[in-house]
Amino acid sequence: MTVAAEQQSFFHPDILSDPFAFYQDKIPTAPVYHDAASGLYLVLSHKLVSEATGRVDEFSNNFQVVLSGARSQDPEVMAILENGWPQVDTLLTADPPVHTRFRKLVNLAFSAPRVNKLETHIREIASDLIDEMLARDEIDFVRDFAIPLPIRMISEQLGLTSEDTSTIKRWTDAFVDRLGGMVPKERELQCAREVVEFQHAIKAQMDARRASPTDDLLSDLVHAQVEGERPLNDGELLSIVQQLLVAGNETTTASLAEGIILLARNPAELAKVKANPKIIPNMVEEILRLASASSGIWRVMKADAELGGVTIPKNAMVMMRYAAANRDPEKYENPDAFIADRTNARTHLAFGRGIHMCVGNMLSRKEMTVAFEELLPRVAAITLTDESAIAYPPNMMLRGPTSVPIRFGAAG
Ligand code: HEM
Repeated sequence: MTVAAEQQSFFHPDILSDPFAFYQDKIPTAPVYHDAASGLYLVLSHKLVSEATGRVDEFSNNFQVVLSGARSQDPEVMAILENGWPQVDTLLTADPPVHTRFRKLVNLAFSAPRVNKLETHIREIASDLIDEMLARDEIDFVRDFAIPLPIRMISEQLGLTSEDTSTIKRWTDAFVDRLGGMVPKERELQCAREVVEFQHAIKAQMDARRASPTDDLLSDLVHAQVEGERPLNDGELLSIVQQLLVAGNETTTASLAEGIILLARNPAELAKVKANPKIIPNMVEEILRLASASSGIWRVMKADAELGGVTIPKNAMVMMRYAAANRDPEKYENPDAFIADRTNARTHLAFGRGIHMCVGNMLSRKEMTVAFEELLPRVAAITLTDESAIAYPPNMMLRGPTSVPIRFGAAG
């Protein structure tokens, strides 16, 4: 960390890019941290994040204003967004009873039996990508594996097979940059244009399914009835599809990428897992814990409330800092260490907790487990070829490296 935490807001780009010293400093001393520079609150400890995510009547997910970014009030940005559909609160940014209705609709699509049915297909895609990767001299694990695997899975589930991976990646990058709230005005304008482009492209796909149903998730959603009453309208459908793409792609990409970095930097752990592949599902939990790709999600206070001895006022913005909770020294011994067979790895909060707990958690766990099961027997060693290329763009809510150049030592 290049800037002293005491002098700077937590949301200073230098701290956001490398927040680990801040976490270890503040979790024991200020588990509900008031960031004086920004006026925002951060919940940092495992115990208090677990508690606050359960108190949904006080800690509301209806934080759309922040999610849209302060810049969205900019007249130029607003003028572009007017060519599309307004944001509707459905899942992440909705409270019960609205949230309950939409959540029921998507739960089914991501249930364990549905995800288990996808396993063979995930294995095929992972294996093809590994073939392509191992045939190259220069590998960027993010570009060549961690981006395409989750995008292909969710696109196929939704039935967006006519859109190519790079288009979907471009759209999700635009959503993420808007979410992150750290980009310059020019990028903000470009993001707004891409959001509108996404909306029109998906709207065309929705209309096609209204006319003629297909066997995919988008068609299921188009024909679903909210509480048996009425079909979802365009704004609601676009909101759900956008969330599935953003929440599902960037996070799984970041977690896969972090996994390969951890294995490369910890050859003894790599050897342990290669010798005993049964550890892989537990190792995936440990990777999820340390990656905490969805590092913080907002809540807005519906009333004055006390948490961990701190009174948080009505309307204050509070961030559930999952990435800090996952490194809480009271919960995890030697919290920054990667221990593939750590016994309590699965207690992490990388998917959140409570009614908003990640709807795609089983899908991303399956993708990651299958990916490492397919990859590890085929490589003897993993080397990071350019540490300086591994950079984490500052983002308030998401964390992941944009590039991970590696070299694999072929097995056998
Ligand atoms: C490693 C990968 C992933 C991570 C770390 C992650 C993390 C999270 C977290 C922390 C939340 C809770 C938000 C809150 O507290 O308000 C969440 C919610 C959500 N996630 Fe994920 N996620 C991942 C993968 C996925 C996938 C694959 C999908 C779908 C295809 C998905 C879809 C969603 C949706 C729709 C929500 C909102 C749920 C609600 O509010 O009820 N996520 N995710």
